[in-house]
Amino acid sequence: MTTQLESTARAMVARGRGILAADESTGTIGKRFDSISVENTEENRRAYREMLFTTKGLGQYISGVILYDETLRQKCADGTSFVDAMNRQNILPGIKVDSGAKDMPLCAGELITEGLDGLAKRCTDYAKIGARFAKWRAVIIIGKDLPSAACIEGNAHALARYAAHCQAAGIVPIVEPEVLMDGAHDIDSCEWVTETTLRTVFLALASQRVVLEGIVLKPSMVIAGKECKQQASHREVAERTLKVLRRTVPASVPGIAFLSGGQSDADATIHLNEMNRIGGCPWTLTFSYGRGLQQSAIKVWRGSQSSVPQAQATLLHRAHMNSLAATGDYQASVEKMAA
Ligand code: 13P
Repeated sequence: MTTQLESTARAMVARGRGILAADESTGTIGKRFDSISVENTEENRRAYREMLFTTKGLGQYISGVILYDETLRQKCADGTSFVDAMNRQNILPGIKVDSGAKDMPLCAGELITEGLDGLAKRCTDYAKIGARFAKWRAVIIIGKDLPSAACIEGNAHALARYAAHCQAAGIVPIVEPEVLMDGAHDIDSCEWVTETTLRTVFLALASQRVVLEGIVLKPSMVIAGKECKQQASHREVAERTLKVLRRTVPASVPGIAFLSGGQSDADATIHLNEMNRIGGCPWTLTFSYGRGLQQSAIKVWRGSQSSVPQAQATLLHRAHMNSLAATGDYQASVEKMAA
């Protein structure tokens, strides 16, 4: 029998559809607004998110949107709640429930994600407002002698405790262990750190009794650090990422929705496409991009009402290209024609 959790998780990773991560905290959206010289006010945040969520046709490519606490409670200018606006487009509303990655005690230079206190109640409250899934992001940093086992294990345990709370409240947890691209490390380092992290995360999920059919995994790709001189080809990133996932992710997980993690729009799309072309996986491979979907649209928007249609067309285009990549049907020529 398919449970509610399983059917929600499957809908989130349905063929050719992916997730829009629009759950930037007030501080993070402030950084994005700084880059387009827009003031970080509640009204500007609302107007920006309304532009994103009311894009006509978005539901064709986007299965779910991850929101921030403030955003889940906001409305469109005409009074429709964002939750209703999404439901009309057959888009599932989701919610970020962690309270951020903080300095980890006794582990210099590393971060541990907080937010477990009071999480049971927050999950039930969010479900009542209409959230169908949640997200918790753990951050693993590669550096000299990093990551430590303490950091990987601590974050894996917190991810598993979070996932259990979500499932108890009937919402699907997105389990997001992000190995950061920051630094000069090579792709080999990223590969073993990603493999070790995922192995530890799935051990913790099992020990906390999390039902794997009712989660979505959101990993980073296996890729060299941003400052590394030797960058791998798209094909190599795809092959190495799939190798690590095949070794660590049980076939019972319905889908894997990657984060873009600071890759260029094109790289994020091409890497996903390459993986789907290689294929042969037990899980769906799709996207859960934040910057990979928004960075071109926000530059067009720039806080101006008159640029909303153009910004929405830009977002829809990126969503369409990533939808094609989610089935391995993306081609650079299609990108040019559709642009
Ligand atoms: P990026 O795709 O910009 O990495 O954002 C996805 C996300 O939700 C990070 O937590």
